[in-house]
Amino acid sequence: MCEMRPRTWHVLLLWMLVCSCTTQAIEPITTVVVGIGATLGRTLFNYFHESCDSRWIAFNATGLRYDLDTKLFGQHLASRIILKAVKGFMTNPNPKKPLVLSLHGWTGTGKNFVSKLIAENIYKEGMDSSFVHVFTSTLHFPHPSQNATYKSQLQRWIKGNVTNCERSMFIFDEMDKMHPGLIDSIKPYLDYYDKLDGVSYRKSIFIFLSNAGGEGIIQTALDFWKRGRDREEIELKDLETSLSLSVFNNNQSGFFHTSLIDKNLVDFFVPFLPLEYRHVVQCAVAEMRARNLEPDQDVADKVARDLVYFPKSERVFSVKGCKTIESKLDYFT
Ligand SMILES: Nc1ncnc2c1ncn2[C@@H]1O[C@H](COP(=O)(O)OP(=O)(O)O)[C@@H](O)[C@H]1O
Ligand SMILES: *[C@@H]1O[C@H](CO)[C@@H](O)[C@H](O)[C@H]1NC(C)=O
Ligand SMILES: *[C@@H]1O[C@H](CO)[C@@H](O)[C@H](O)[C@H]1NC(C)=O
Ligand SMILES: *[C@@H]1O[C@H](CO)[C@@H](O)[C@H](O)[C@H]1NC(C)=O
Ligand SMILES: *[C@@H]1O[C@H](CO)[C@@H](O)[C@H](O)[C@H]1NC(C)=O
Repeated sequence: MCEMRPRTWHVLLLWMLVCSCTTQAIEPITTVVVGIGATLGRTLFNYFHESCDSRWIAFNATGLRYDLDTKLFGQHLASRIILKAVKGFMTNPNPKKPLVLSLHGWTGTGKNFVSKLIAENIYKEGMDSSFVHVFTSTLHFPHPSQNATYKSQLQRWIKGNVTNCERSMFIFDEMDKMHPGLIDSIKPYLDYYDKLDGVSYRKSIFIFLSNAGGEGIIQTALDFWKRGRDREEIELKDLETSLSLSVFNNNQSGFFHTSLIDKNLVDFFVPFLPLEYRHVVQCAVAEMRARNLEPDQDVADKVARDLVYFPKSERVFSVKGCKTIESKLDYFT
């Protein structure tokens, strides 16, 4: 889109011919003009085309803090851990290994949403950046019988993408549906290596999303609720058993199947709490704002009341979190 068309060149050269008084002068001047043209073209191309440099990739700590504080509801633990982890990693000029985050919790509680917030505060293009890659197990790796193919493919992709740009971000959705051996194949990339085959992975970010451990997180949140305690009082140590090694080493959990865990390659396990009625209301109001509608508490309440809550007796937590708000809002407005 930014290259000069041949006709432009012809006009330029013609103009040069007409203007120059001596023929000898044409040669060097043409060379110079061509040189300038090429440089200009390349600069323009880089200017409009996303490239792996600080104009397109720049971490905004203020922005991330602001987004986590104002856009993410009911996740005080996740918000705190994510900010600390990402800020620490992105401001370190020489990280010893890539940043590896594992986000856990019930569906619709904001795991994909947080990944998006992180991407938006690192990449100018956010999730549309050509340096952000999302893998969804059921989409990219659906057939367990092809695990060997997937393994080499995944390795090739990651290596290729990091070779392209060391500040790459990889998001693995639906980790618990992934064949356990598959994720092991990228283990070397997550480790403390300076370089592997000449490629350094130390500045990349890997984010795993899963529902594993979600039941335990819900149980803890429910216990707090039953005892009338504020959920903001839930601390990371209260969730340790849900996020503990025992869960991941459990061959029934369908999760990593150890090796990522027992080598301590995951830097942070981030729990996502199940969302309550009031959070769903907040989500609905936020969605109205995003659509430039006047926030209407009545409509937000209607949307929230229309969702299903669990457990059956208490009805505290939204079954789908904030996931179906968008379509509900279409219905009520
Ligand atoms: N904690 C939250 N705060 C604000 N919005 C949320 C939250 N959780 C979910 N949402 C909204 O619901 C949508 C679906 O959530 P998502 O992040 O995809 O859930 P999951 O945890 O299953 O990845 C998001 O796009 C976001 O708009
Ligand atoms: C960082 O984010 C804040 C809050 O969203 C915004 O006001 C600011 O302009 C951003 N800074 C840069 C350099 O993009
Ligand atoms: C692929 O999965 C099958 C079982 O589904 C297993 O026997 C085999 O070892 C796996 N292959 C690889 C390379 O992991
Ligand atoms: C980068 O990853 C994508 C998948 O997200 C893949 O399609 C592409 O081929 C990879 N690029 C390279 C250079 O390997
Ligand atoms: C799962 O682990 C338990 C012990 O931890 C073992 O007895 C059982 O055979 C294992 N199941 C499979 C399918 O590997």
